[in-house]
Amino acid sequence: MADEMTTPADALREAAFSAMENAYAPYSRFRVGAAVRTSNGEIVTGCNVENAAYGEALCAERVAVAAAVARGLREFAEIAIAADSEEPWPPCGSCRQTMSEFSPDMKVTSYARNGSQATWRLSDLLPEAFALNHLRGRS
Ligand code: THU
Repeated sequence: MADEMTTPADALREAAFSAMENAYAPYSRFRVGAAVRTSNGEIVTGCNVENAAYGEALCAERVAVAAAVARGLREFAEIAIAADSEEPWPPCGSCRQTMSEFSPDMKVTSYARNGSQATWRLSDLLPEAFALNHLRGRS
């Protein structure tokens, strides 16, 4: 049966591609979807949301993280990012910082439209992240 063949990684990837279908990207036409898997196995999705005021665009990864936090979920094991692109791209710097706030060592997997993928540890994408302990330790 198909269900028995579905891995957690498959489910997260499918959730990211499904969220990509809802991307609101009339300006860049670069559609992105993201799905975070929390430490308790829940999946929360996001997509990019652009605006006529271009600088107000929201990235899919930050929308997914914010939606999870709004549900009381703050520990992430993994994020899948699906982009309507030829190659899998790593997340932008702002999204790295936002993800690092909650789960600095989470797994990050990016998919291109043909399914090709790349995986990183967030701590490799954003070494020496600015963090709460830096604020607390200030003199
Ligand atoms: N975008 C994301 O959603 N995630 C990223 O990591 C990089 C960029 C979106 C923002 C904008 O809507 C479009 O892609 C082009 O930059």
